[in-house]
Amino acid sequence: MVLSARATQAKASVDIVARFFDEVHALTDRPDALDLTFGDPHELALPGLTAALRAQIEPQSVDWFAYKTSERAAKEAVATGLRAELGLPFEPDDIAMTQGAFGAISLAFSLLTDAGDEVVIPVPGWFCYEPMLYAANLTPVRAALAEGSFDLDVDAIARAITSRTRVVIVNSPANPTGRVYPKASWDALAEVLEEASRKHGHRIWILSDEPYRRIRFDGIGFASPAGSYAWTAIDYSYAKVMLAPGQRLGYLALSPLLAADERTELRAAFMPVGLAIGWGFPDAIMQYAAPALETVSLDMVELSRKRDRMYGALTDAAIEVTRPEGTFYLWGRAPGGDAQAFCDALAARGVYLMSGSLFDQPHHFRISLTATMETIDRALPHIVEVAEPLG
Ligand SMILES: Cc1ncc(COP(=O)(O)O)c(C=O)c1O
Repeated sequence: MVLSARATQAKASVDIVARFFDEVHALTDRPDALDLTFGDPHELALPGLTAALRAQIEPQSVDWFAYKTSERAAKEAVATGLRAELGLPFEPDDIAMTQGAFGAISLAFSLLTDAGDEVVIPVPGWFCYEPMLYAANLTPVRAALAEGSFDLDVDAIARAITSRTRVVIVNSPANPTGRVYPKASWDALAEVLEEASRKHGHRIWILSDEPYRRIRFDGIGFASPAGSYAWTAIDYSYAKVMLAPGQRLGYLALSPLLAADERTELRAAFMPVGLAIGWGFPDAIMQYAAPALETVSLDMVELSRKRDRMYGALTDAAIEVTRPEGTFYLWGRAPGGDAQAFCDALAARGVYLMSGSLFDQPHHFRISLTATMETIDRALPHIVEVAEPLG
């Protein structure tokens, strides 16, 4: 046995996803495959992304490709964007540039937790929280979202908190449900965490995982818990909105409500701890491109059309689906209740969805709307046909 205990646990908790990732890519490489699985791009990169990268590729100084930490211009662009979006006075020094949201989450764990601490995670939720927690020697504690609506269930979070809890992870817009939570949810959570922190004699943090923040439908507003609870760190990634998860860029941002002394302590740790976790800063080109990338976005009108097409056709076929308010995912209940059987029957026809078993939710399935409209239109009749005898 060469693997460490934490690597063994991390691997076990995400093995099913890792295997699916390899298997489905082998299958979806076929030109006739209809791939609705991961949130990957299905068309060539957005012109704004390639233009921003091209503009930075030629070195403009001898240190162009020297070691980079969090570049000033990138942090300024992020702070300006956050101020406009969230209406809170973020400062550039509240920002640590990271390798996507993955990097920011990892940085937050190192800044805020010690080995053996517990971290509360939403269920259903993104399948990488657990392996990341195990790899960081932390213990995931699941708190279910509200049955059926997938609203934030603040009471469930309260019940999940123990004397070892250090962080509560929240995710809005939420993967896989597409739900966006209102400010009232954050105010209620803030009250619970304030009381629990007092009771247990240490501060419990919120890590607000917001990589889908700019992907919202029907003009629905967005509130971050950073506006309700001072001890909130936001993690963000540009990968979703610019449909390029292979180019790593993101950040961790502290709530401007946090007291000056705590902010100063954390700010001073961004660089040394970013280094300590394996030089977790984005590549030079991505940092130089960050100001231009702030405004690059997938076509939200087209994404709304895809959401409406898929949601409309599935509900017409009496398949129970949650209408996404954000993200590019659609979360549904498998006809007949066995998501794996439903997904296998579709795979036999060359249509690939993600079974909820990857989220430990064997009755549900997830569809990614990053596929082209043509793929969606070709996949839909198959989904409806397979569902009919099962439903
Ligand atoms: C909820 C959630 N958080 C974080 C991430 C990580 O994002 P990135 O790969 O851009 O770092 C993802 C990616 O799928 C996600 O769905």
